[in-house]
Amino acid sequence: MKSKSKRPFRAPTTAPIAALPWIGLATLIGLATLIGLATLIGLATLLAVPVASAADADRGGRLYVKAECGKCHGPSGQGDGPVGKTLEQLGKPPGDWSDPTSFKLDTDKDGQPGSDRDLANVITRGALVFGGSQMMGPTRGLTDDDVADIVAFIRSLSR
Ligand code: HEC
Repeated sequence: MKSKSKRPFRAPTTAPIAALPWIGLATLIGLATLIGLATLIGLATLLAVPVASAADADRGGRLYVKAECGKCHGPSGQGDGPVGKTLEQLGKPPGDWSDPTSFKLDTDKDGQPGSDRDLANVITRGALVFGGSQMMGPTRGLTDDDVADIVAFIRSLSR
């Protein structure tokens, strides 16, 4: 008898090798979890930024041009657009926004004309309903963000 044992040959390295796929799997799951977490955090940050960020004056400026506000108010809000000049001659000037105290209408009657809310109200509903000029008509189709951006642009003109 050469050997009583019928045990199959087992190299001592078998066990660690058999464990390797599991270690690999665990690593993969770990990595996937990390990547998933990182993605979630990244997404949350992306979503949070627009909410937290202030109104965009540059975008407001583009909307101002698109809505042709400058026809009356002029390119930099000094009331010197082509129609604005005529209005001035008629005694109903659009105002000069380079002076931050030039705003007249107090739409929410809080004693402070020209607040952000006042400007937003005039832009969306026009000046006439607030006792102002009928030449300043309501502007339709603007979202709240659009209006906030336009107000930020108007503010930037007096800095
Ligand atoms: C047809 C001319 C005309 C156009 C176009 C026009 N406005 Fe006016 N706007 C006026 C006049 C006139 C006044 C002054 C109203 C008053 O004092 O009664 C005015 C006033 C304002 C005021 C200030 C109100 C205050 O309290 O003094 C804001 C803000 C304003 N306009 C924004 C805009 C924006 C934004 C646009 C473009 C979406 C625009 N306007 C387009 C004529 C115009």
